[in-house]
Amino acid sequence: MELIVRNAKLRDKKYLVDIGIDKGKIIKINKTIQNKGLKEIDAKGNLVTPPFVESHVHLDSALSAGIPRYNESGTLIEGIEIWGERKKDLTKEDIKENAKETIKWLITNGVLKIRTHTDSTEPSLMTLEALLEIKEEMREYVDIQIVAFPQDGLFSINNMDKLMVESIRMGADVIGGIPQIELTREDGIKSIEYIFNLANKYNKLIDIHTDETGDDQSRFTEVIAKYTILNGMEGLVTASHATAMHNYQNDYASKLISILKRANINIVTNPTSNAILQNRLDGYPRKRGHTRVDQLINSGVNVSIGNDNIMDPFGPLGKGNMLQTAHILLHTAHLSGNQQILQLFDMISVNGAKTIHADDYGINVGEQADLIILDAKDEKEAIRLISECLYVIRKGKVISQTKPAERKLELGGKIFDIDFKLP
Ligand code: FE2
Repeated sequence: MELIVRNAKLRDKKYLVDIGIDKGKIIKINKTIQNKGLKEIDAKGNLVTPPFVESHVHLDSALSAGIPRYNESGTLIEGIEIWGERKKDLTKEDIKENAKETIKWLITNGVLKIRTHTDSTEPSLMTLEALLEIKEEMREYVDIQIVAFPQDGLFSINNMDKLMVESIRMGADVIGGIPQIELTREDGIKSIEYIFNLANKYNKLIDIHTDETGDDQSRFTEVIAKYTILNGMEGLVTASHATAMHNYQNDYASKLISILKRANINIVTNPTSNAILQNRLDGYPRKRGHTRVDQLINSGVNVSIGNDNIMDPFGPLGKGNMLQTAHILLHTAHLSGNQQILQLFDMISVNGAKTIHADDYGINVGEQADLIILDAKDEKEAIRLISECLYVIRKGKVISQTKPAERKLELGGKIFDIDFKLP
């Protein structure tokens, strides 16, 4: 065997296992594997899981914060203005350099599957071209799915509908949209109809920036559910953000969630961006601006997590760390119940895989050997400590290794090693 990972703690097993890998695939999972591997890693009882899934990120704008200027108001509107200014002298090389650097951060943090929304409003479609090239160049190391994203709306600028068709012809995997940005509600509905027609014609998945606002009158999530059911596309459609849901009247939210369950819609929540962008104009009291994560999950709706913005005009911080997003959402969405912490781990792994329709996901014999070893004994410790990802293994090869920090505390002449873990 090319590689054996020993003493691995899998999420669904009470005891530790050895994982045997050969020719890029998992070939054996046993309490003990007697054979010797060409290479061996001792996981030391740490949590070994499939890689994290980043189900919503904008790689084309990542790492561009401050260019040409910083977002001083912190609002979504100023962010859109700055991105518009940035696009004027953006080059393909700029996008590729920053996007690739961001992907390296994501991989080091244990992400091997990414869905990225790519601004498709430039007549040259340069951003899409840049991301398509990166997808090919990095195929060996990471799976990237590209959403053609009409950032400024489909019908608020001329010829955008033609650019969407061209984006699909160029190779976009998923059709995006942003109905609440259209000039009128009618145009918003028209844009959803248009997206479903395209998806049917070209056999594509759908992922729409939906009701990303604090406006409780923004009600496109229900329209997306309706067209999903009408088109028999249950499970194939994602509503990203859905933050207005936070502010809906409870009777309406309850009805909506039951429709979302029926349509098998995936919801992606973006804890960092939603926390700072939505309900910012409330004054006080200020609502949280996240979608209703606990109610959605309790109703059986698939919810996953994205970083959305990593150091760009919309979100100034971030380092592509899914555990950090889960940690933040635990606090901002009241998800601190013991079982809810496990659900948070699902949201950055298995739920994300469901959202992006990754059918090759899991640590099972016969699967591609993509897995990560965390510096944590279980899910709660991983989220609490925002643990380092000690090893990232892709197709049976170690592509990233991280050494956790060493801390020495001296008290009364004695040296203590501090790692913030329970003894
Ligand atoms: Fe987004």
